[in-house]
Amino acid sequence: MKKASFQVFDAEPASFSGAALVYMLERSDWQDLQGHSPVLAAALHHLSDCGDLFAKDEQMVWLYPALLDWQGEQPYRVKRILLATFTAADAGYDALREKIRLCAGSIAQQLRGNTGIDGGDVLVLCPHKLLLAPDDFARHLVEGLVLGGYSFQGYKKEEEAAEGKKKSGPIRYFLPGGEIAAKELRQNIKQAQIVAQAVCTARDMGNQPANRWTPADFAAYAERIAQEANKKKKLKATIIDQAEMRTLGMEAILAVSRGSALPPTLSVIEYWSGKKYPTVLLVGKGLTFDSGGISAKPPAGMEDMKFDMCGGAAVMVLMQALAELNMPGVNVVGMVPATENLSGSAAIKPGDVVRHYGGLHAEVVNTDAEGRLILADAIAYGIATYSPDAVIDIATLTGAAVVGLGHHYSCLLANDERLSEHLLKAGQESGEPLWRLPLGPEYRKQLDSTVADIKNAGDRSGGTITAACYLQEFVGTTPWAHVDIAGTAWNFTEKSYVPKGASGTGVRTLVRALANWEKLNRS
Ligand code: BES
Ligand code: MN
Ligand code: ZN
Repeated sequence: MKKASFQVFDAEPASFSGAALVYMLERSDWQDLQGHSPVLAAALHHLSDCGDLFAKDEQMVWLYPALLDWQGEQPYRVKRILLATFTAADAGYDALREKIRLCAGSIAQQLRGNTGIDGGDVLVLCPHKLLLAPDDFARHLVEGLVLGGYSFQGYKKEEEAAEGKKKSGPIRYFLPGGEIAAKELRQNIKQAQIVAQAVCTARDMGNQPANRWTPADFAAYAERIAQEANKKKKLKATIIDQAEMRTLGMEAILAVSRGSALPPTLSVIEYWSGKKYPTVLLVGKGLTFDSGGISAKPPAGMEDMKFDMCGGAAVMVLMQALAELNMPGVNVVGMVPATENLSGSAAIKPGDVVRHYGGLHAEVVNTDAEGRLILADAIAYGIATYSPDAVIDIATLTGAAVVGLGHHYSCLLANDERLSEHLLKAGQESGEPLWRLPLGPEYRKQLDSTVADIKNAGDRSGGTITAACYLQEFVGTTPWAHVDIAGTAWNFTEKSYVPKGASGTGVRTLVRALANWEKLNRS
């Protein structure tokens, strides 16, 4: 995918010449075309009379200036006009932000269909009544445009050829100046672009097949982003390899990796913004392929288990984004334990006992409950090494999360009310909603083992909760939240700005949560 760029456009829309001019029209506001051509206004009224302007949500209608009768008026110079409608109704602010992202996502899709061949310049005109502060509006607009323009460059011969034939570069977006040309606005556009680009990168990682995105690729990526950011001395990457894991006593991640020919990696990326700020530890599950191991998964749909690293991808790109944003107010340590879960002859067997980093012993009754094993080693190590003020982990951890909440909410479990509220809010604002599930000793009992401190799976009931109970065992009193994205990481959360395949979920929520970190202790 080629990267879109953004610029501010200060002249009259009529003078814009490029691939397309986009009018974002809000239902209650669309007639307010002051300053625009009466010819265009007449065309809009005609469409409205036909009932074709707001016939459905995010309706997109193309007009061609060359086909309109300009009655002596100076015709618009742009090739095409796209009318992109949305309805704000009396939606709350977060719902409105989602409407803007959805509309922007549809715009990007339309442009990909029509102007994708030759890229080009596109001016996007916002509604007169912005409904949100201009910088807020712009942020969600830019997110929607970038995310909706995403496509995975796969491995198809024709697509490669088509990509090569494109004459010009990616779409250059222009947003109108005037009211929204302030420096702060440009800043917001830039930030939204960094974050949305990070999401696209996480999607790319997720969409790669397991033989093209391995534990070693995670480590190499971590080293690369640290090197790139190094001029600013913002990121530090350390790779804990298999030998180092042995030295440190991380028997669980080693055990999970033993059925695979590929060695595991644990990438640790530190982002330091200042000593006086709190430190947050983020851990993402980087299981590059989950066959279930000896407790094998059924074959149908097993190919989807290449997505079992989406939590790791989210953490990885987030660290990159933090450096690019130069985010103040918080220090962040990102950890991505990465391995395959296969069933080679050295594979871990049901009943085996492993010793976690820090000394807790676990009986592995089900080798398919491997995510908690690798996360626990990382969490225990991260807490011992960095004494963070809070821990957040993100993982495609349980099928039960899909059964419980389906594909439109991620599960949130936490030992801390304020951290939980903070993440719920960030998710709501980002259009990546979370729903909290309970924890408690009643559930933890399901993990009592007769031979070890804990076993890695209970019965089928409350599977998402017992998985979280397992992790909780390793966080002690540190405020901690666990986000289970098994239902939201790929395919079924599809909407205009979220394609099928990897969704990149979690990145925007975590960025929001970290950017507002100082609010957490005030509420
Ligand atoms: N990666 C899976 C969870 C998963 C399943 C994510 C389906 C997305 C879709 C995880 O490693 C797993 O296999 N969990 C088991 C745990 C069980 C054995 C206790 C599960 O959910 O079945
Ligand atoms: Mn599994
Ligand atoms: Zn898994």
